[in-house]
Amino acid sequence: MTILKDKKFLIVGIASKLSIATGVARSMARDGANLAFSYQNEKLQSRVEGVAQECGSGADMCFPCDLAHDDQIDALFAEIKKHWGNIDGVIHAVGYAPREQLNGDFTDVTTRDGFAIAHDLSSYSFIALAKKAKPLLNDGGSLITLTYHGSQQTLPNYNVMGLAKASLEAATRYLAVSMGKQNVRVNAISAGPIKTLAASGISDFRKMLEYNKNRAPLARNVTIEEVGDTASFLSSDRASGISGQVIYVDGGFSITAMSDREMLPATSND
Ligand SMILES: NC(=O)c1ccc[n+]([C@@H]2O[C@H](COP(=O)([O-])OP(=O)(O)OC[C@H]3O[C@@H](n4cnc5c(N)ncnc54)[C@H](O)[C@@H]3O)[C@@H](O)[C@H]2O)c1
Repeated sequence: MTILKDKKFLIVGIASKLSIATGVARSMARDGANLAFSYQNEKLQSRVEGVAQECGSGADMCFPCDLAHDDQIDALFAEIKKHWGNIDGVIHAVGYAPREQLNGDFTDVTTRDGFAIAHDLSSYSFIALAKKAKPLLNDGGSLITLTYHGSQQTLPNYNVMGLAKASLEAATRYLAVSMGKQNVRVNAISAGPIKTLAASGISDFRKMLEYNKNRAPLARNVTIEEVGDTASFLSSDRASGISGQVIYVDGGFSITAMSDREMLPATSND
């Protein structure tokens, strides 16, 4: 498939082969995209370069960028401009909250600092990328972020990340209006739980995976490749009418209140 042929995208958020952003990069490269990458710090550089190579990009298209710092975001887009001039989209697959925020009772563990950091790095960082990408984005471009259903319904230990994801989804809608003026679409993909480095920071994540699998209509968890394929579609002209949406890739989990499989066998009183 070549739905992204001749298009150029920046992928932000690879930390390992297991990262959702790695699945996205693989799908988009398979679909013909040219890709640039950023890495949070030097520790992650070689891993990101490995994925870049797998996707047909050189180390010269991998740039450092800690999203906590505006000057680093400026430097990232200066490099993109230097190499490419313009761009067709950005994938933001970044989330962070201090670990102690994600373990325990919400009221007890949530702090002012933890709240601020989670919202800054998990929600504002998408807006920060959009601001800097704006002058470089081609007509028909696309911005995509990754979110989670903890924005809509509660679950144990997800805590302040649920609030940050709700903010991120609202940012997706406001950005869609703002960027729509230059025919750029903005969407979020709400992925079901997947075992990645970020996910392992959430206490009892393994139980979440098991619970999701048991309740989801598809009776399994989703893969980074499935999320990647959705990101590739959303980045392409095939999705030219879709903006401001939160698209679920969760095996259908979010539409269930109770799984058929949780029902006890019918008794004679039924
Ligand atoms: N894994 C899941 O179950 C799941 C489900 C739904 C949504 N998501 C979301 O998907 C996105 C990607 O997470 P993942 O699960 O692939 O985990 P991951 O650990 O592989 O990726 C998280 C990325 O965020 C980056 N990051 C964190 N702070 C940063 C900063 N200050 N500057 C630059 N980069 C920074 C890390 O370097 C890493 O690459 C996150 O937004 C996450 O909330 C994950």
